[in-house]
Amino acid sequence: MILVTGATGTVGREVVAQLLAAGETIRAMTRNPMRAKLDSRVEVVRGDFEDSASLDNAVRGVDRVFSLTLGPQTGLHEKNLAEAAKAAGVRHIVKLSAMGGDGETKNDIRKWHDEGEQAIRETGIPLTVLHPGAFMSNALHWRETIRAVGKVFSNYGDGKLPPVHPRDIAAVAVRALTSTGHEGKSYAITGPEALTVREQVKILANAVGKRIEYVPVSDEAIRAGMEKAGLPSPLINALLPFGEFIRSGKAARVFPTVEEVAGRQPFTFSDWARENATAFR
Ligand SMILES: NC(=O)c1ccc[n+]([C@@H]2O[C@H](COP(=O)([O-])OP(=O)(O)OC[C@H]3O[C@@H](n4cnc5c(N)ncnc54)[C@H](OP(=O)(O)O)[C@@H]3O)[C@@H](O)[C@H]2O)c1
Repeated sequence: MILVTGATGTVGREVVAQLLAAGETIRAMTRNPMRAKLDSRVEVVRGDFEDSASLDNAVRGVDRVFSLTLGPQTGLHEKNLAEAAKAAGVRHIVKLSAMGGDGETKNDIRKWHDEGEQAIRETGIPLTVLHPGAFMSNALHWRETIRAVGKVFSNYGDGKLPPVHPRDIAAVAVRALTSTGHEGKSYAITGPEALTVREQVKILANAVGKRIEYVPVSDEAIRAGMEKAGLPSPLINALLPFGEFIRSGKAARVFPTVEEVAGRQPFTFSDWARENATAFR
């Protein structure tokens, strides 16, 4: 049995769907089973990364775990999960982490994930770590301004990045969970092409069928928008430096991991935009 955490989120729902398609038996963890809206073939369990007793219950009888959590408490969350998993005899964890520079240039989000990774390693459970770049679905954050004023505001300038379809991240996770040889490995995961936000907006406008203008703005303007939207300050401070990193051109590298591990071509941003066009109308 495989425990999928983060099962109600963007990547987790794809992991659940693909594991079901592969014929696996799945338990899905959520803090609120009543709102989970998961396939009836999935056993849904209430669990919270901050409640160790709930994790003991979630991992009972499980042999593999997909670990997805987020935020500054990631290290503690995955320590709690990994200790419960160790006691239950789990033999493989696949952890969703993030890309992020090396050493001093590591962003905060990657640092939080590294703490979680370290906590899992300390239990000795074989681990596979996924390091995806920016999700294509981040474009959903543009919904409001596209609908309201037909504009996308971004501090990424004309820097390129290769956004990845969440379904492709899940495909790599599912391969790692269901086939041999992935223990001890780390996978950098990107989409197939590096695009500027301007290019993404053009692709999206074609798919949606309306004019959308790209408006480059400063880091400070983005900070003000995040504050207005009520994002917690550790998250704002973690996200803002991506602007400079992407504008510098250092985020443009494409990795062939989806094809190598999942055995098929990754989806393009055009594919994602066509699938999600109605969200922007
Ligand atoms: N967006 C990007 O571009 C990007 C790039 C690289 C890496 N990442 C990483 O991707 C992850 C986010 O993935 P996502 O977008 O699929 O997530 P998401 O859609 O935001 O969903 C978050 C999931 O985490 C669960 N969760 C949150 N807190 C929990 C807690 N205390 N206990 C149990 N479950 C909890 C939620 O479950 P319930 O609410 O049902 O309990 C939900 O299923 C983060 O780790 C992030 O660092 C994101």
